[in-house]
Amino acid sequence: MIRINQDRKKKNVKRESWGSQAGFLLATVGSAVGLGNVWRFPTVTALNGGGAFVLVYLVIILLLGLPVMIAELTLGRAGKSNVIGVFTRLAPRSKWWLAGVLPLAASFIILSFYAVIAGWTLLYIFSSLAGFTAGLDTAGLASLFAVLTETPVYPVAAQAVFLILTVAIVVVGVKKGIERWGLVLMPGIFLFLIILFIRTMFFKGVWSGIAWFLRPNLAALSFSTVLDAVGQVFFSFSLGMGAILTYGSYLPRDSDIPRNSFYISVVDLGVAILAGLIVIPSLFVFGLDPETGPGLIFITLPAVFNTIPLSMLWATLFFLLLAFAALTSAISMLEVIVAYLIEELRWTRFTAAAAAGAGVFLLGVPAALSRGVLRGVLIGGLDIFAFLDFIASNLMLPLGGLLLIIFVGWVWGVRKAAREIRTLGVGFRLEGAWSFLVRFVVPLAIGYILISGLRPKG
Ligand code: PHE
Repeated sequence: MIRINQDRKKKNVKRESWGSQAGFLLATVGSAVGLGNVWRFPTVTALNGGGAFVLVYLVIILLLGLPVMIAELTLGRAGKSNVIGVFTRLAPRSKWWLAGVLPLAASFIILSFYAVIAGWTLLYIFSSLAGFTAGLDTAGLASLFAVLTETPVYPVAAQAVFLILTVAIVVVGVKKGIERWGLVLMPGIFLFLIILFIRTMFFKGVWSGIAWFLRPNLAALSFSTVLDAVGQVFFSFSLGMGAILTYGSYLPRDSDIPRNSFYISVVDLGVAILAGLIVIPSLFVFGLDPETGPGLIFITLPAVFNTIPLSMLWATLFFLLLAFAALTSAISMLEVIVAYLIEELRWTRFTAAAAAGAGVFLLGVPAALSRGVLRGVLIGGLDIFAFLDFIASNLMLPLGGLLLIIFVGWVWGVRKAAREIRTLGVGFRLEGAWSFLVRFVVPLAIGYILISGLRPKG
């Protein structure tokens, strides 16, 4: 214990950094692009009147998503540390490090149920490949979904396999693991999406779906549309959890943070829109109900695939894509925890990743069983899965994001942040607008969402 403390006071642990600009960009895009884009975005859009939601989503990206992403990357790079360490370094001898506890805990909890959904995608790769989904109608697919997610052994085993993959990549480290896999996986995802998109465009009657998706119907706008858009932007951009902050901490000083944030946002948005252009017109073409929930992907899409030749191939490709996207996101969540354990508690990368992975697995087991044997178990009226999601996504994420942005806007200060951004001659033309958003618009908006989020839905 004494030695640990002395070590901690000594010099910093040797930190890793990204090997290349492209590697950083792909890894960060990999964090952002995930189940949030491919599954959540089309679903939320479908439930919020299509084009109108897409319009609000764009506005929220400009007002909240982009400024917070710039703030997280800057905080990470300036503090050159994990989600707790940045606060102890930039505001020493204060209690601000406590602001890092929430994102840390949120990473842990969100990853625990994210791995469950990701596990389902693994089960569906296998099922499509084995031909289990082929030829089934919607009812048949619904019972397959039930068997796969309610029989205890399948979801738990799949969740374990997914976490082992995640841990394995994180163990290898920033440059060799996270960055290299990003370089391999991300282009693969884009390729798969484009193939699926082209296939979708050949469906008869696809245009009415596309028009509904892209034409803003302003009458469908309501306050809840705005709330949903804010939640979706935070989730999809990996914000408020320290993931972008941690990735920013591995950035070299000469990287252009505003420009990188812009690229990441554009790609994340692009993938979401592409996924929407695949999923939503498919719903129209096949007369499926957008309110299917998790079944939107796992029940109805295989049904869509079953109506076209080579259905096994399309379905396998689609779930492979979804698993890849989930993996690169899960890596970033685990890295938040691992960076903390390595730098603050002096664990080795292997021990940190393995222990965090095991902890996340254990916490996730009840979530994985919540559709099956633990179906009746309710906490505050919510099943285990929904409870974890509610606590983490509706309470911890917004609160964590709020504290982070107050820190950048008012404590550490936008001036110092802008100076950090400008290091080595990088330009920051929108400094004025960014400072205003970070100090006023973002905290007020998140504060409001937090209060609204306290009221459970339904
Ligand atoms: N952005 C990821 C997605 O869209 C999820 C995520 C959230 C990843 C928070 C890291 C941190 O699926």
